[in-house]
Amino acid sequence: MNGPNLNLLGRREPGIYGSSSFDDYLPKLRERYPQVEIDYYQSNVEGALIDRMQEAGFPADGAAYDGIVLNAGAYTHTSVALHDCIRSIPVPVIEVHISNVHTREEFRHHSMISAACRGVICGFGLDSYRLAIEALCC
Ligand code: DQA
Repeated sequence: MNGPNLNLLGRREPGIYGSSSFDDYLPKLRERYPQVEIDYYQSNVEGALIDRMQEAGFPADGAAYDGIVLNAGAYTHTSVALHDCIRSIPVPVIEVHISNVHTREEFRHHSMISAACRGVICGFGLDSYRLAIEALCC
């Protein structure tokens, strides 16, 4: 799951986030892990991310998820609601960041969601998502 502004990957501050869009990256990730079924959801809206995460945590159709890889974007640093949501669902969540947030502005050094997550991966570019899949399923 990707949060706000991550729909602009490839165009958004390429010096920090790289020049690949997520749409270009996702098929490569799926190709690398054919045994893993990877759903994808992106929203710029905090409540929509929470709705989707609740659905994944308590799926109406019984299609259970092994885990959620979450780049909550800027909501990472602000959202008590996302923290509470992650704690509310039985599915493990891995927090990921493309950039190394600890080398950046101080307001990015604190995450509101880390304490609720299974683990945190940051600073490896788009490979952060792959490392999270490895941690969850491989
Ligand atoms: C980010 C880091 C956040 O601080 C920022 O607000 C983002 C992207 C990352 O992937 O490096 O939107 O989560």
